[in-house]
Amino acid sequence: MKYGLIFILFWGHFSRAQSIHILTTGTKTSIRGLSVVDDQIIWVSGSNGKVGKSLDGGITWTWMTVNGFEKTDFRDIEAFDEKTAVIMGIAEPAYILKTFNGGESWKLVYTDSTKGIFLDAMDFFPDGRGVVIGDPINGRMYMARTIDNGSNWQRTDFNKLPEMADGEAFFASSGTNVRPLNYEEIVIVTSGKKSRMYLRGKLSDMPIIQGGESTGANSITIWNRGNKVEKVVVVGGDFGKDTLTLNNCFYSTNLGKTWVAPKVGPHGYRSCVEFIDKNTLITCGTSGVDISTDGAKTWQLITPKSFHVCRIAKAGSAVYLAGSNGTIAKLKLP
Ligand SMILES: *[C@@H]1O[C@H](CO)[C@@H](O)[C@H](O)[C@H]1NC(C)=O
Ligand SMILES: *[C@@H]1O[C@H](CO)[C@@H](O)[C@H](O)[C@H]1NC(C)=O
Repeated sequence: MKYGLIFILFWGHFSRAQSIHILTTGTKTSIRGLSVVDDQIIWVSGSNGKVGKSLDGGITWTWMTVNGFEKTDFRDIEAFDEKTAVIMGIAEPAYILKTFNGGESWKLVYTDSTKGIFLDAMDFFPDGRGVVIGDPINGRMYMARTIDNGSNWQRTDFNKLPEMADGEAFFASSGTNVRPLNYEEIVIVTSGKKSRMYLRGKLSDMPIIQGGESTGANSITIWNRGNKVEKVVVVGGDFGKDTLTLNNCFYSTNLGKTWVAPKVGPHGYRSCVEFIDKNTLITCGTSGVDISTDGAKTWQLITPKSFHVCRIAKAGSAVYLAGSNGTIAKLKLP
């Protein structure tokens, strides 16, 4: 009786915990692009020109190498369904490609060979509008926009974009430092010597760690009720010292007027953060994965395994993670 009770208590404890289940590993690519269409359709993109796709919730994977782009690092991907996706190749020249046939062939939809070009991330509104951001050129933020899910792109006039500080740029670590804030506006976080939030044409200061080349914000996530923003959460740190926890996460309930530090922050540098529901969040980085169940106030390490990106299904509830060595995993919630 006594032992039975102890067993039940332990079983209860473990069955309540969140855990990470590896779905595939070993493909020669470092994955930073992850787009989860629904609980079945998942696309990833990474280095060595690689794109991966699953149509059964991650049980089986198809890997492809984009023809003619075998050396390109595809740091971000946006998938619209099982046939249609856009991938972003970062630097000199920067490329955006789109497939309409599930990855059998890719159409080059944007090229920029400007010296110093480095694309960092893209994101889309449900109606087809989208934005890609890049490191500053001649001191100004780089941006291009689309209104048709990435079939055509138009570079934004540099004069309409803010000046960035010396050594301030973006990290191309998870495709989540630019996000739709609501139905109309986007929000971006910068990083490096300065790490700030871009909203409504202005850059505003954040308390996140900054000042070095590997410091700053990597990712922002937003919780909305209707078109009203209730909370934004930012993560980052120092990817050169990935177990450092100093000033690596802040949240705000007033769009960055004031920022609050968690009571217990994520356990190291984190490259991606995602709301799962109003109170539940996941964040991942090279030193592990943390979960919060109290709206970013406290974070619990659930694995020390390295992941670059974590995303929830756009139409669904499944949460996936991806990282180096072609590793893809699924989050199991209690
Ligand atoms: C963009 O893709 C979404 C699906 O993610 C679709 O509902 C929408 O109609 C598309 N819009 C355009 C302009 O292609
Ligand atoms: C990737 O694989 C290499 C060699 O097999 C190993 O040394 C490294 O630790 C792996 N990285 C991760 C994050 O699993």
